[in-house]
This record gives sequence, C-alpha cells and structure tokens, in this order.
Amino acid sequence: LPAAAFMLQEQEAHATEISEILSRFERKGFKLVAIKIVVPSKDFAQKHYHDLKERPFFNGLCDFLSSGPVVAMVWEGEGVIKYGRKLIGATDPQKSEPGTIRGDLAVVVGRNIIHGSDGPETAKDEIKLWFKPEELVTYTSNAEKWIYGDN
Ligand code: GTP
Ligand code: MG
Repeated sequence: LPAAAFMLQEQEAHATEISEILSRFERKGFKLVAIKIVVPSKDFAQKHYHDLKERPFFNGLCDFLSSGPVVAMVWEGEGVIKYGRKLIGATDPQKSEPGTIRGDLAVVVGRNIIHGSDGPETAKDEIKLWFKPEELVTYTSNAEKWIYGDN
C-alpha cells in the first residue's frame, strides 16, 4: 500500500486542533505509520518546497513553514495519496469545498494549513526528508480486516 507524507502547520491554524486533522484520516481508514512535531529550519523548508523555488511566493512560503511547529506524519492505505489530497482540498482555501480540511479550516492560500505529497515519487522523497527509516512503524491495525476484508 502506498504511503504519503502530510504535514500540518499548527501554530497559525486558528484554534485548529491536531486531533481534528488526524481524525479525518483515521476515520477514512488510513493507517498512521509515523508522526512527530518539529520546527523546520528555513533551509529545511527550502528543501521541502525545492520544486517551487522559481515561484514568487517561494520565500514567504518557506518563512511560513519554518515559523513554528509542524506536525509531520505518514499515512498508509489504498489510494491514500490521491484521496488524502481530496481530504485536504484545493490549494486555495477560497476554492476548496466545505468538508475538506482547507475548506473548513483555512482562508488564505499562503496559510493553507496542510501539505500533502502529490504522487508516489514525491511521497517517497518527502518521507525520506522528514523521517529517519526507524521512525516509520510497521504494524497491523485491528481495523484493517474490517476495512479491506480478507484479501
Ligand atoms: P501542497 O500540498 O502544500 O504542496 O499544496 P498543493 O499541492 O495544493 O499546491 P502547490 O504544490 O502548487 O503549492 C504549494 C504551496 O504553495 C501551497 O500549499 C500554498 O501554501 C503555496 N501556494 C501555492 N500557490 C500560491 C499562490 O498563488 N500564492 C501564495 N502566497 N502561495 C501559494
Ligand atoms: Mg504540492
């Protein structure tokens, strides 16, 4: 099952609770395999968003990401990368649907609360950037049999 990296900028999320975000992935049936809270350096933020370095908002985006605590997490499950981005919603919170994380909890694009990997390759790179291999946990959750059946 593919895994995806997601992260949440907690400090600026007005009254957002970490559990509020976690529960949306949990309730869907995705499995949490890594999580930690960190304050990334600016240098780290630039590495994370390296593919956007030509964009005019790059510097501000990296300032924001390194401005406070970030909850980094890795979720696993069938279709998690694509569906995780649906849970997150459109990039601009003015356009994300109600019911999505950004739709419900954010207002402006430069402070849209959460990032999600956009494909298996970027997920792999981002997991490697944010986590040491030993920080990823392998386990079977009781819910899996219910969620996926016997196959
Ligand atoms: P991520 O999950 O964060 O990667 O968002 P995304 O995949 O929906 O969007 P994208 O990768 O294109 O942009 C990365 C981040 O840059 C977004 O989450 C926004 O925070 C920021 N961003 C994107 N477009 C704009 C913009 O037009 N203005 C500003 N200020 N920030 C932007
Ligand atoms: Mg992106």
